[in-house]
Amino acid sequence: MKRIFSNKEIVLGVTGSIAAYKACEIASRLVEYGARVLPVLTESAAELVGPASFEAITGRRAITGMFEPLQNPEIEHIAVATRAHLFLIAPATANVIAKAAHGIADDWLTTTLLATKAPILFAPAMNCNMYTHPATQENIKTLAGRGCRFVGPEEGRLACGFSGIGRMIDPATIIEACVPLLAPKKELAGKRVLITSGANHEPIDPVRFIGNRSSGKMGRAIALEALARGAEVTIISGPSEARMPWGATVISVGSAGEMAQAVEREAPKADVIIGAAAVADYTVANPAADKIKRDQETLTLTLVQNPDIIAGAGAKKRPGQFVVGFAAETENVIPNAIAKLKRKNLDLIVANLIGTSDSGFGTDTISASLITPDRHIEDLPLVTKDELANHLFNHIVAALA
Ligand code: CTP
Repeated sequence: MKRIFSNKEIVLGVTGSIAAYKACEIASRLVEYGARVLPVLTESAAELVGPASFEAITGRRAITGMFEPLQNPEIEHIAVATRAHLFLIAPATANVIAKAAHGIADDWLTTTLLATKAPILFAPAMNCNMYTHPATQENIKTLAGRGCRFVGPEEGRLACGFSGIGRMIDPATIIEACVPLLAPKKELAGKRVLITSGANHEPIDPVRFIGNRSSGKMGRAIALEALARGAEVTIISGPSEARMPWGATVISVGSAGEMAQAVEREAPKADVIIGAAAVADYTVANPAADKIKRDQETLTLTLVQNPDIIAGAGAKKRPGQFVVGFAAETENVIPNAIAKLKRKNLDLIVANLIGTSDSGFGTDTISASLITPDRHIEDLPLVTKDELANHLFNHIVAALA
């Protein structure tokens, strides 16, 4: 994420919704990721949150008035409109959406919005009746038709006391929605990337299962990188603690059998298939229909092998399709990975050492080697999962080209 945000000039437009206080957290995360954030508050936003908060977070003077920039050419609106990499309007009221849709430019923010060619992302926040009103919906459609992007809103309790759709989506999701708009490389535009991610739950009875420690962090990092490079992303996700990124289609599954069925359905449409899931190798032969009672001294479960999902995709690979697997190993990492690469007919395998405190299930970092069928090996000693995803797609893009 840092790589994508680093040194990007982001205009954070804050408009007059109660959610304006959450814009401080958005500003803070953007700054943490290395972006240069210029806060711009409309008059009503400045009534709700003090510009001083944004100034303390961003280290930049917050723009609140139309004529203020006259004293400071650095924030003259045409200069900012030209320099910005992204305009993020969060929260975006029905009013600012309506003004932007109709080209009304009556304050600093709307004037600059009209002058920019940078991508624009709105995070709407308003009462549910205002959001669903045909006027607002028409305005959103108009802006979307011109290439503006929207993230949220979501359903929930609203400041006005109503419950419904209109709550600004959470700051983490808003930040993720910026990723495809900021990323410079769009080499995967028009390509479909299918990712398996997370663990599997193999049922023992209606309340118990066999699982594993996969967190889904690797799958999430791969999905974010694919989105950043312009791909259309589908994740077939088993249970996992990591939230899947905004902008990806997520198909949630439980067992390896369900995951295999979903992959079978989705794989023919994909250009790239990546098996990042820690697929359960075995499932319970006959899961009990009712909860198993604690009335026996010992309990024996018979396990049968699950299908090998990525090997299935490798076997049915069509020309031009690129299939990637992982090899999670505790020993003989490279030889075991090469054997899996061959056995599963993969185009690339990520061999990774598991079982250490900084590489493996649930960690943010990983030690890995990328291995191709011609045995070219790229060693990545200890990298973040985001960095690994970046290296992985450098290989994939080069191979697809
Ligand atoms: N994989 C799969 N379906 C399975 C098992 C594994 O799709 N039933 C995929 C994983 O998602 C990963 C690769 O195959 O991309 C290798 O997984 P790994 O667990 O390392 O190897 P296994 O094939 O299960 O072999 P072993 O457990 O004997 O090491």
